[in-house]
Amino acid sequence: MTEFASSAPRRLLVTSALPYANGALHLGHIIEAVQTDIWCRFQRLRGHDCLYVCAEDCHGTPIMIRARQDGTTPEQLIADASASHQRDYAGFNIAFDHFHATHSEENRRYCESIYATLRKRGAIDRRSVRQAYDEQAGMFLPDRFVRGTCPRCGAADQYGDSCEVCGATYSPAELKDAISTISGTRPVLRDSDHLFFRLGLFDKDLREWLASVGLQPAVRAKLDEWFEAGLQDWDISRDAPYFGFEIPDAPGKYFYVWFDAPIGYISSFAALAARRGLNVDDYWKAGASTELHHFIGKDISYFHTLFWPAVLQGAGYRRPTDVHVHGFLTVDGQKMSKSRGTFITAQRYLELLPADPLRYYFAAKLGNGLDDIDLNLEDFTARVNSDIVGKLVNIASRCAPFIAKGGGHLSAALPDEALYAQFTARSEDIAALWNSRDYAGAVREIMLLADRANQYVDQNKPWVLAKDPARLDEARAVATQGINLFRVLMTWLAPVLPDIAAKAAQWLGDDALSTWNGIATPLLNRALAAYPQLAARLDPAVVKQLVATPPASAPALPSSSQQSTPSQAKPVINIDEFAKLDLRAAKVLAASRVEGSDKLLQLTLDLGSEQRNVFSGIAANYAPEQLVGRYVVMIANLAPRKMRFGVSEGMVLCAGGPKEDGSEGVFLLSADAGVAPGMKIT
Ligand code: MSP
Ligand code: ZN
Repeated sequence: MTEFASSAPRRLLVTSALPYANGALHLGHIIEAVQTDIWCRFQRLRGHDCLYVCAEDCHGTPIMIRARQDGTTPEQLIADASASHQRDYAGFNIAFDHFHATHSEENRRYCESIYATLRKRGAIDRRSVRQAYDEQAGMFLPDRFVRGTCPRCGAADQYGDSCEVCGATYSPAELKDAISTISGTRPVLRDSDHLFFRLGLFDKDLREWLASVGLQPAVRAKLDEWFEAGLQDWDISRDAPYFGFEIPDAPGKYFYVWFDAPIGYISSFAALAARRGLNVDDYWKAGASTELHHFIGKDISYFHTLFWPAVLQGAGYRRPTDVHVHGFLTVDGQKMSKSRGTFITAQRYLELLPADPLRYYFAAKLGNGLDDIDLNLEDFTARVNSDIVGKLVNIASRCAPFIAKGGGHLSAALPDEALYAQFTARSEDIAALWNSRDYAGAVREIMLLADRANQYVDQNKPWVLAKDPARLDEARAVATQGINLFRVLMTWLAPVLPDIAAKAAQWLGDDALSTWNGIATPLLNRALAAYPQLAARLDPAVVKQLVATPPASAPALPSSSQQSTPSQAKPVINIDEFAKLDLRAAKVLAASRVEGSDKLLQLTLDLGSEQRNVFSGIAANYAPEQLVGRYVVMIANLAPRKMRFGVSEGMVLCAGGPKEDGSEGVFLLSADAGVAPGMKIT
């Protein structure tokens, strides 16, 4: 708390982790950005000079493969992702000073120079590595692109580095029946030279750094484990083909994405510095007096608390002041999952709801530890409606009418100065809670005071006073007190609720919401604009739409529970394998709903030579009567499957995925053009 006693402004540079360019932002990314943004807005409100940068993380095999799969170039994929990410961040009011990209000239320059320095200082080693190689695709395979049977427990279809069933870790070479997910062929082992960063050289420096920085206890405990196990050299190169920066003195070799990604923090700042006329060295050179704070999720702390400070140290740069690690977001108690419909993209949220309520909910649940944070949709609705609408905004909305009735002016003095002083006396404690990232603690304190403010209004009943024309001034004074208490609370919450704060500031005609200490003087004796609605209640029905109905898992669908992320793409099949499918046109003779299932329809299909009974998960999108007489495409030689409702003799092909309104759509592939029952589909 002493740091607040001094009014000396701090200079801070703050970052959030760089999102990968091969996917949309989801609410897990947003909780991190919101946590960081609240902290930055708070620091600025306190009068500190706080810059916030981020960037697109562009490199690596998954992005290269994803671009190939999408029939585009990595550059185009990155441009699209960056535009969509920036739009989503802006939708959540994340106030970056700059958003850059790791695939940029600045980043190439910093990577090359940092690497050159590390080399000169003897921190880079070269040695041969044996690795899985896909001969058909002509490339080395990252562990995640190899799947096979776990050597320990025998579970099928496990990643090349670890088993999700028994937790074993191993190398792809140990995997049984290994298959490359890129070509579907069996990988071979091949040797190639790699470049290593000698992390072990920095053991002493790292320990020294650790003694000087913050770091949460849980992060330290993890670090102790790593130190105990001994610091391993770190492989920072990858062989072509790779999407990244080629290493200047090692043709055909590229910097590993995790080498160039954190350097992206420097490059993004450098681009900002060029725009604003700042000096990069003031922020980044060893001995720089500015603070450097990274906000990250717990899955990437190894990179940020070991490699990154060591790389910075080795290259003559300053090290982070602190690394703030958060836990993972779950939705209704579960890991976000596409198949369960709980994978909520930032875009989907913003289509349905405003940003401030979610920012508030995240703040109310974020402590400064590594615990996971659950977005419970019922609790979210209840909490926002009770706290923001029922408590905070309620103070303003119930007081405003008595100002208007009393002539539109705030009174010249507060009727209860002691109560006002009780509020402002809490200001430094609340600042300390924000600063130490105990947001849940800050919100709790602020809401207790919101209760206190509402009690004040309840006890002084301006609506009773206002009935007597002689006491209208008293009513106005009570309202003036209430509005001033609201202003104090709103100032403290301004970093969390930027939209509501902006509306409130406009209403109050007050620039005080833009500084922490504005509340030192109450707002008195001035005209107040008409009261605007500051926040609306959340409709539980709309909140529910955040979690789309899971795609029907019925047999009619190409298994949509198997997410097709690039690393899990299905193996390539050859023409003989394709020829094994007996695809037929079939005519729907009868269709009916299935008792006990709201997804399935039971279909009687005419294949010409025979009739088939097939259960199909299309009830959400088709009524039985729409189907009779139509032709569909079916797999006729699928082994019959016994289901709870009967035996399904084949599968009807559909296209499936989210519709424009976000709900799951399932569309029958029609075979209407002049077909007859049983016709072969080729
Ligand atoms: N590109 C790397 C970071 C490089 S930083 C030099 C990366 N990208 S990511 O897109 O996978 O994750 C970005 C950030 O989002 C990470 O801090 C990660 O921990 C965080 N989260 C991803 N999913 C999350 C949740 N479900 N919940 C909370 N944070 C999550 O890692
Ligand atoms: Zn196993």
